Amino acid sequence: MGRVVKVLIFSLLLIIVSAHSKEPITPIPSKLAYDKKKALLGKMLFFDPVLSMDRSVSCASCHDFDHGGADPRPVSIGVNGQKGRVNSPTVYNAIFNFRQFWNGRAKDLKEQIHGPLHSSFEMNITKEEIEKRLNANAFYKKAFKKIYKKTKITYDQVIDVIVEFEKALITPDSRFDRYLKGEKNSLTEQEKRGYMLFKRLGCVTCHNGINVGGNSFQHIGTINFYEKSVIGDRFELTGREFDKKRFKVPSLRNVELTAPYFHDGSVKTLKEAVEKMTYYNLGTEVTEQDIEDIVAFLKTLTGKKPTILSDGHENR
Ligand code: HEC
Ligand code: HEC
Repeated sequence: MGRVVKVLIFSLLLIIVSAHSKEPITPIPSKLAYDKKKALLGKMLFFDPVLSMDRSVSCASCHDFDHGGADPRPVSIGVNGQKGRVNSPTVYNAIFNFRQFWNGRAKDLKEQIHGPLHSSFEMNITKEEIEKRLNANAFYKKAFKKIYKKTKITYDQVIDVIVEFEKALITPDSRFDRYLKGEKNSLTEQEKRGYMLFKRLGCVTCHNGINVGGNSFQHIGTINFYEKSVIGDRFELTGREFDKKRFKVPSLRNVELTAPYFHDGSVKTLKEAVEKMTYYNLGTEVTEQDIEDIVAFLKTLTGKKPTILSDGHENR
């Protein structure tokens, strides 16, 4: 290939790349590779209360797909009717978070699952009990054997299939993503104004990237002191003064569906969440109209429900 041609192609690529990376938010890919057989088995387990000690809750009890993969209750109820401590975040697009949990104590989805399974508040079950129960179940025995070619189901296989299901829980094609990809008419004028405000006021300094959050730790109350006491923050993990009231910034994808808001589920509406953010984290004066425009923009972040949720269990 001639040098001139090479240079031309390179410049063209550069233009394409920079045209896309101008925006601080990037679209969810339309597909992410996953093993469908494993994912469908993981889906069954996600909905199966067999994974909780008193067989009363499944992962889906606290991550409700009719509520954006989150829990509509301020805090979830785990085994023996026990109340949890913080609001359950969405499992949609969790694969894209840089760490898991409000304070980031798990480095990825694989590490995360041990949390709810063994937590005495949530499922309160041991590795041995899970293996015992599933190995006594003829359906699961057959299904796992088909995939792993082993006679015994292991705890690691259980984690493996659930994570595979979580990889399938992405929500592409929101109106905002279509806008980012060049369909300028997919947003109304008000929604576009809302996005401009989101950028201009500085919301994007914390809510950016593919998940519009989920990629850094930040404080609540960076500008105006947040009077309320908090739980489940980074401080619980590190004991460092600096980490008080510091959380993984929540993703704003599908945020219109995931009420109530904030780590303790204390904020009921999206409007109230945006008002609190402008006061505590930006310290800027905004008009009622500005808030409405931002809320309108946030609602364009709702994507398509993952196809796996409507897929049948071919391996049943
Ligand atoms: C009793 C309710 C409950 C059950 C059951 C439960 N979760 Fe959760 N989940 C939560 C809560 C509450 C959090 C947040 C805890 C925290 O950050 O300290 C959470 C966090 C998560 C996260 C991290 C998301 C993020 O953005 O940080 C993932 C992923 C997740 N759960 C998946 C699962 C899976 C898989 C199961 C089943 C094995 C499960 N959960 C069972 C309530 C529950
Ligand atoms: C300095 C970083 C920072 C800035 C700037 C910021 N946020 Fe946040 N945002 C956070 C953190 C941290 C939380 C979690 C607070 C909590 O749970 O107590 C949050 C929570 C939220 C929530 C609730 C999400 C949920 O699922 O609970 C919404 C909505 C939100 N922010 C929108 C905005 C908007 C709109 C702006 C601009 C007006 C903004 N944020 C500016 C860091 C920031």
